[in-house]
Amino acid sequence: MAVVYGDDDASFQAAGGQAGIKRLVDRFYDYMDILPEAAAIRAMHPGDLEVTRDKLYCFLCGWLGGEKLFAPKYGPIMIPRAHEHLDIAEPERDAWLLCMEKAVAEQPYAEDFKAYLMRELFVPAERCRIFSQRRIEGE
Ligand code: HEM
Repeated sequence: MAVVYGDDDASFQAAGGQAGIKRLVDRFYDYMDILPEAAAIRAMHPGDLEVTRDKLYCFLCGWLGGEKLFAPKYGPIMIPRAHEHLDIAEPERDAWLLCMEKAVAEQPYAEDFKAYLMRELFVPAERCRIFSQRRIEGE
C-alpha cells in the first residue's frame, strides 16, 4: 500500500523518526543564524538556542505523528497563541519558512515528502501571522 503522509506515524517515519527530526531542527536553526533574510526573526529568539531547538524538536515529533514529547516537558501548547506576542507579518513568516525549506532540502527525505512537509508547515506559520496581526490591529 502507498504511504499516505499524515496517516498515523507515516510523516514521522518519513522524517527519519526522532533522530531525523533532530537533524532537521538543528539545520533549521543553523540557517536562522546565517541567512540575512532571517536576521529579524533570529533577533526575536534568545542568544542561546539550546532550549528553543529542543522545544521545536519535541513539538515536531508529536506534530508529525510520533511521540508527543512537548507537553510532558514544557506544558500544553497552541502554536499560533504561543507566537501572538511576536510581530509576524509576511516577511517574518516567509523567513521562517525559508530556513525550513533550506533545512528540509538537505535531508535524505523522499522528494514528495519534502513538498508535503513544506505545504503542511505553511499552515501553522500562516496562523502565527494571522494571530500576530490580529493582536497588532486590536492594540
Ligand atoms: C511564522 C514564523 C515564526 C516565527 C517568526 C517564530 C518565532 C519564534 C520565537 C521568537 C520563539 C520564542 C523562542 C524562545 O523564546 O525560546 C518561538 C517559539 C516556538 N516556536 Fe516559533 N516561530 C514561527 C513559526 C513557528 C511554527 C510554524 C512552528 C511549528 C510548526 C513553531 C514552533 C515553535 C515552538 C514549539 C516554540 C516554543 C514555544 C514555547 O516556548 O512556548 N514556530 N518561535
